[in-house]
Formats: sequence, C-alpha cells, structure tokens
Amino acid sequence: MSAQKIQIFDTTLRDGEQVPGCKLNMEEKLVIARQLELLGVDVIEAGFPVSSPGDFEAVKAIAAQTKEITVCGLSRAVEEDIRVAAQALSGARRPRIHTGIGTSESHINFKLRSTQEKVLERAIAAVTLAKSFVEDVEFYAEDAGRTENEFLARVCEAAIKAGATVLNIPDTTGYCLPEEYGAKIKYLYENVKGVDRVRLSTHCHNDLGLATANSISGVVNGARQIECTINGVGERAGNTALEEVVMILRQHPYLNLDTNVNTKLLAETSAMVSHMMRMPVQPNKAIVGSNAFSHSSGIHQDGVIKHRETYEIIDPRDVGVSDSSIVLTARSGRAALAYRLQKIGYNFDKNTLDKAYASFLQVADRTKEVVDHDLHILVEQENLVA
Ligand code: KIV
Ligand code: ZN
Repeated sequence: MSAQKIQIFDTTLRDGEQVPGCKLNMEEKLVIARQLELLGVDVIEAGFPVSSPGDFEAVKAIAAQTKEITVCGLSRAVEEDIRVAAQALSGARRPRIHTGIGTSESHINFKLRSTQEKVLERAIAAVTLAKSFVEDVEFYAEDAGRTENEFLARVCEAAIKAGATVLNIPDTTGYCLPEEYGAKIKYLYENVKGVDRVRLSTHCHNDLGLATANSISGVVNGARQIECTINGVGERAGNTALEEVVMILRQHPYLNLDTNVNTKLLAETSAMVSHMMRMPVQPNKAIVGSNAFSHSSGIHQDGVIKHRETYEIIDPRDVGVSDSSIVLTARSGRAALAYRLQKIGYNFDKNTLDKAYASFLQVADRTKEVVDHDLHILVEQENLVA
C-alpha cells in the first residue's frame, strides 16, 4: 500500500521572515521561493500582503513566478486584509487565502475583547469573503492549542460550511504536549461535520521544544498538512522545522505517511536560508546542523568506522551531505586516528600507529580538534614511516 501524502506548507517567508533580524529583500524572497519549489513543498506561504507595500509586492512577484505549487497569502479576519491578499495573489496559478481569528479564551477576552459568538460570526464572514476571490481558502483558529475543543469544533464546522478547504489548528504558543495535540486533531476528526471534505493542518510553535513532536502527533491522528519553516525559524523559539518532520516520516515508513520533498536538497536549502536570513543554524541541530553527521568520541567513531548504521540512522547523502565526518579530539581512539591517517595517505603498522597515537593525544589535549594539517606535522616531527 503506497504511503499517504502529507502536504508540506512552508511558511519560512511569512512566519519565519517576521523574526527580528531575518528580514529578506525581494530578490532573496524570490530565490528562496524558487528553491522551495525545487525542494518539493506543496504550499508556499509567501507573506502577509496587507502588512506592508513591500510584502504585498513580494507575494505578487512570488505568485507570478510560481507555476506548479500553491501560493498562499495571510490575512486576519478583516475585510481589508482579505481584499489585499486576494489582489496580491491574483496572478497566481494556484492561489490560497489563509484567513482566521483567535479562538482561545485569552485571545477572545484580552486581544479581541469580544465574545465566542462574535468570533464565530467573524470567522464565517472572513471565509465567505475569501471564498468570493479564490477557491482554496484556509482558515486558522489562532491559539487552537489552548482553545477548548467544543468551541474549536463549532468554529471549524462553521468555517467548512462557509467554504474553507483547509483548517489550520495552530499551537500558537507552543504549549501543547504531543498526546494533547494529537487528541485535539482526533477530536476534530470525530466531531466536526464535513471534516472529511477538508484537510486538517498542523501549525506548531516550539516554545517548549515540542513543535516537531506535536506536528508528528497531529499527522498520526489524521492531519494531512504540516506547516513548517526551513531550520525551524519563526516567532520566539521558532516553528516546526521542515527538515525534521520530513525526515521523521521518511525514516519511519511503517507510519505510511510521506511527503513530496526531495530530501537531497535539504542541506543546501538550509544553508541558503541561514545565509540570507543571517540566522546561524546551531551545530547540533537535527538533520542540518554541522555536527548532525560528525562523530567525535572514540567509542562512536570505532562503531561508525566498522559499520555506519551503528551510530547513524540517516545516510548523510539522503539529505545532501556528502559524507559523515570523523572529528579527531582527545576523546578519539586509535581506530579513528588510523582511519583519518589512511584518508590522507599514511598506512601505518601497529607499532607505528601506537607511536602516532601517543603524540596525537598530546596534541589533542592542547587543542579542540586535530585537523589533517596537524597530522602531517605530527608524522613529520616523529619521523613516522608508512
Ligand atoms: O502561530 C499562529 O497561530 C499563526 C497563525 C497566524 C496561522 O502563525
Ligand atoms: Zn505561527
């Protein structure tokens, strides 16, 4: 049985780009949008057109350049937002308007100073208006993670009736636990009339480091779209990282869920976004961090040299990294030293290797990492002969 497709909705250019310091110029946005299309995402959220003339122009330009996939523009449940989003998307081959409103108690009481009934009315009006411009309308229930399920189900049902094609269930504050978020998606599947006609979407923030786990729990419980960003960039602690959810689904085929992403472009896309946003990727970041495929302790190095899968669950080439690396430090053993020496042309017998290892440890204790250049010097100074 072939795997069910999970749509990847990339919001690097909207939820990601709104982060302080991550602002992109028009050319950079167009380059990233082109790369996302190559990568194989299904939807690009290109921006929030009403927010500034620059964002309007960027959404318009991305809509014009993107041919095969859906281009989406964000709007609040506000008439002007929706009209401007529709205008920005008018040149898109596959336009989607993403509109919505806060549904949790704190959003309704403190942000909107409104009532559940009025929020319901605004949700219906927003979807109805968006539907008059485009066929594909995504509705978001902001702070759904902290919205009580019964009311959330009422809002979702009303949005479907008004014409929504996708229902976004954001854990806006990154508060939910995976079981809780998964149960919420399941509840909606079981209690919202018409839900079988639409796609439920996850949109998780990472305030407690659970964005990826929550998104996976969402799709395991029936959601069929994940909203995410490259490198997990996004408000506060960020959004779900695209590369993580894609590789989790790829590495766990028994879930029978997969995406259209060409994983071999993940490393290159990550580096491009990091460079253009001037937002470094933490070295130990899953999948795309510089240490994600490097081994430094002797025990691990020995295992990986004997058989890669001992300590690697992903072949680095599958995500566009040419090879894993064996980093030489004071924690490395003879196997790693011999491996590295061999790579640079020295095939020593056991006695010579023992001698090399003793001087290697002295160098390693004085420095963070021993590189090939240090090894050449060591061989020369100790007069070691292969
Ligand atoms: O986190 C959130 O709730 C959002 C919505 C605007 C979709 O980004
Ligand atoms: Zn968000």
